[in-house]
Amino acid sequence: MRIVLLGAPGAGKGTQCKNIVGQYGLLHLSSGDILRRERAAGTELGKKAQGYMDSGALVPDEIIIEMMAGAIEEAPSAGFVLDGFPRTVNQAVALDKALDERSQTIDAVLNLEVDDKIIEARMTGRRSCPKCGAVYHIVNLKPKTEGICDNDGTELVQRPDDNPEVVANRLETYHRLTEPLVDYYRNSGTVYDFDANRDADEVKVSVLASKS
Ligand code: AP5
Repeated sequence: MRIVLLGAPGAGKGTQCKNIVGQYGLLHLSSGDILRRERAAGTELGKKAQGYMDSGALVPDEIIIEMMAGAIEEAPSAGFVLDGFPRTVNQAVALDKALDERSQTIDAVLNLEVDDKIIEARMTGRRSCPKCGAVYHIVNLKPKTEGICDNDGTELVQRPDDNPEVVANRLETYHRLTEPLVDYYRNSGTVYDFDANRDADEVKVSVLASKS
């Protein structure tokens, strides 16, 4: 099964991915997580991506397409969930071409719809574990001990691009460059829309229901 998760920054793509991956044994491929790992490792790719990410702009298509093509190569036969990729029509066309060469297609596009006005609270309240990548929220999804990861006891951190000014840029970029992808995929009849304004548990039920 090959799934694309679409949605604005903070829509809950990473949160919902965890559930889908666990249910179906798929590989979670988050372009944002891969970029953050490259940055942490100080690679050339990470250095190139840094300025774009910190300002809320998109990393250029050619860098992302090459990076994600490599990641998809390593997916198990069960398939993958793409989180944050594709993010432009160019990226989607490149993905379709790469899959077509292997006689594969995207089976489902899960589109998480959230009002802009609730995004900022989600983003500024997000905390993540720098070691295992687990995601929490200071109000909606608290760790057992404040500021500490439940999985490995590491101190939680706030992403540098989760401040209000950068969040506003990321949202503007989303509406301008990524939202048109919904129509791109709608033509293929694989899009499932979800009201992601609701609590994460309610969204989870309906995302999984769409795939049963
Ligand atoms: P990326 O890391 O992909 O960020 P994003 O798309 O902006 O998405 P987020 O990870 O911020 O949000 P999410 O939807 O996963 O929400 P989450 O589940 O964490 O990209 C970062 C940057 O990398 C980009 O700006 C760009 O520069 C670059 N980049 C990445 N991919 C690229 C590409 N393909 N092309 C070019 N550049 C690229 O949830 C958010 C918070 O809300 C959490 O605290 C969570 O606990 C909480 N929450 C989640 N769901 C709910 C709910 N239903 N109710 C209440 N709270 C909830």
